[in-house]
Formats: sequence, C-alpha cells, structure tokens
Amino acid sequence: MSFITDIVSRNVHESSISAIKEMSMLAARVDGVAMLSWGLPSFRTPEYIREGVKQCLDNDVALGKYTLPDGLPELRQLAVEKHQEKTGIKVDANEHLMISAGNMQALNTLFHTMLDPGDEIILTDPCFASHIQQIHLFSGTPVYWPLDEANGWSLNIDTLPGLITEKTQAIVLVSPSNPTGKIFSEEDLRRVGAIALEHNLLLIIDDPYSDFLYEHQDSYFNLASVEALKNHIVYLYSFSKAYAMGGWRLSYMVMPAELKHEAIKVHDATMICAPRISQVAGIIALSQPSGHIREFEGMLLKRRELICQRLDNLPQHFAYQRPEGAYYVFPKVITGNSNARDFAIDLLNQAKVAVTPGSAFGPAGEYHVRMAYCVDEDMINLAFDRIEQYFGVRS
Ligand SMILES: Cc1ncc(COP(=O)(O)O)c(C=O)c1O
Repeated sequence: MSFITDIVSRNVHESSISAIKEMSMLAARVDGVAMLSWGLPSFRTPEYIREGVKQCLDNDVALGKYTLPDGLPELRQLAVEKHQEKTGIKVDANEHLMISAGNMQALNTLFHTMLDPGDEIILTDPCFASHIQQIHLFSGTPVYWPLDEANGWSLNIDTLPGLITEKTQAIVLVSPSNPTGKIFSEEDLRRVGAIALEHNLLLIIDDPYSDFLYEHQDSYFNLASVEALKNHIVYLYSFSKAYAMGGWRLSYMVMPAELKHEAIKVHDATMICAPRISQVAGIIALSQPSGHIREFEGMLLKRRELICQRLDNLPQHFAYQRPEGAYYVFPKVITGNSNARDFAIDLLNQAKVAVTPGSAFGPAGEYHVRMAYCVDEDMINLAFDRIEQYFGVRS
C-alpha cells in the first residue's frame, strides 16, 4: 500500500467514479464510438444567451468578481419568478433561494449540511448514480426503495413506511426520472408528501428534466407546488438540460429558510459562489422568452420515437418500458447471463457502442442498461445498427 492510500479518506478510497463517466472515459479511447452513455444533449446553448454573455464580457466591469454566496440578487429574483411559474409557490429571494453551480453541487452542499455518519437517505431504486456516491462520501447510508418495474417503474408507496427509521432524514425524488424516464403520478407523489410530513422528513426534489414531458404535460405533477409541504421540500432546478448549459454549471435551490441559513455556511466555505459569468448567463436565460425549450423537446420526442422503434426491433434481446419524460430509456438485457457491467464493456469493445450499466443506478438496475437519446438521430441509428450486428454475430 502506498502512502497515498494511507492518506486518502476511507470514504473516497472505497468509492469509485460514476459508471456514467467511467463508460464515457473508456468510450473516449475508442475511435468512432457511438455514444449513448452520457446524458449530454447535442444542443448548443441558445444564441440569445451566448450573444448576451458576449456583450457582458465587454461591458460588465464586475464580471470577474465574486458574487454574494447565495448568488446575484437579480438572478435570485428571476429564479423566484420562475419557481412561482413552475409551482405556483411564492418564495423569498433572500430567505429561501440559493444559486449553485449545478444540481450536483447543490446536492453536495445539502448532503454535507445534513449528514452525520450513519444518517439515512431514501433513494428510489433505480436512482441517479451520483446521489448514491454523494451520500457515501458524507458517511451517510443510502436506503434503496425499489420502484415497480412491472408498473412502468412507478413508486411503490406501500413499501415506503417500512424503510423509515429514526436515522432517516430525507427522500430524494427525480421526476421525470433518470434513468427510467418515468413521471411519477400525482396521487403517488402526494402520498409520499403525506408520509414525509408524518415522519418529519425532508423531500429533496432534484429537477433537471421537468421541461421534457412530451405528451404528458397534463399529467405531470410537481410536488413542490404543495403549499403544505413548503417547509419540508428542497427543490433543485438545473439549467443544464433545458437551457443546454451543462458546462456553465448553474442551478438554483429553493429551501426552508432555516436550512438555507445552515447550508450557506457549507456553500461559502467550499465554493464561495457559483461562477459569476454563469450567473450572468442565467439572468439572460431567465429574462427572455425561452422558446428554444419547446424546440429541444420536439427534437427529443423524435429521438424517443426512433430509439423505441429500434428497441422494438430487438424484442428477443431487450425488454423496456416506454420513457414518459427526460431522455433516457432503461431496457433489461434479456439475452445471455452477463451482468450489466460486463455486457456494457463487451458491447463497447466488440461493437463500439457505449451504454451505461444499470447496476450503477442501484441494485434494481442490474441486468439493465441506460441509453441516453439526447444525441442526434444518426448517432442513435449508428449505435443500433452496431447493436443489431453484435447480437447477430453472437446469436
Ligand atoms: C437526476 C440528475 N441530477 C443532477 C444532474 C446533474 O445536474 P447539474 O448539471 O445541474 O449538476 C443530472 C444530470 O444528468 C441528473 O440526471
């Protein structure tokens, strides 16, 4: 063992980089790979945002300075308005809102603020892989709440109360979900809300995808719109997907005032503030009409139809639930015995197609793979031509 192993914290040493990035890093070494492994939309940051930032680079003399830890007041106010538009709930820009460098950094701040060793956070299974890792990094314990695959990966409310102990602090929800694309029903979400109130748990709503709902606009329900839950909800909205701003690292977090008071200590000590140039981009993004979001959604809808059609051509190899929102599909691999990781590595090496092994998203993800259909149609077709060939060669 080297001295480096000795000095590295046990939590870090025992964790590994997310399978999403691991696959993407392996894939980057494969020439001409067809990438379905990373939820990186093919879209450019919209022109009105890029143009607005260009002007600020010349004219905004403060652009190189820090901002207040919770962000530029103008951006916070715009985020308050956006939150009200999305949920109908009015919050206060000073009391409840904090600008973060993406939902991942916001979650990092939150888990850092909340977790003592052994504290438990309930995660749907499958869930977003980085939630599991972050909880481990802060010595917390992720508690898996299996989704009901036979019912399109819906929530299984009856099993939730049995998972709650005196160490449980929060339940994390992502709807539409990554990796399944499921939109949880209003009835189920309201029942989760009631359980959280009854047990005094926090509900953490990580929301990068609520702008991509396709034909489900009417049935989508945002639990953050329930006034009675206001003091039990942390709502995280990311600019990464709807504004194609993943690389800018920008999000906002709405939370109970008392929690903001605690979380800002962590945010200040670890980050100071989200990058000012990204906050300025956020002001431009929110102060003009965002017609591009419907365009993105229209393109993603076509891509969803294409990937489902290609999966339908392989019923002997994949069983899948049709995604309702976001831009992921999570098929079960029903051929062969190899686990999800071995399958994904073999597919990469033999067929030059990168997918993410489902086991990264929790135990229920084993024998599944996640495919991100935010890439363009040629990439989806190339990947599936190769997958068909791969199965053809091997069957
Ligand atoms: C559920 C979920 N949370 C958070 C993120 C990352 O968001 P951000 O870019 O705002 O950190 C992603 C990105 O794929 C995601 O799917």
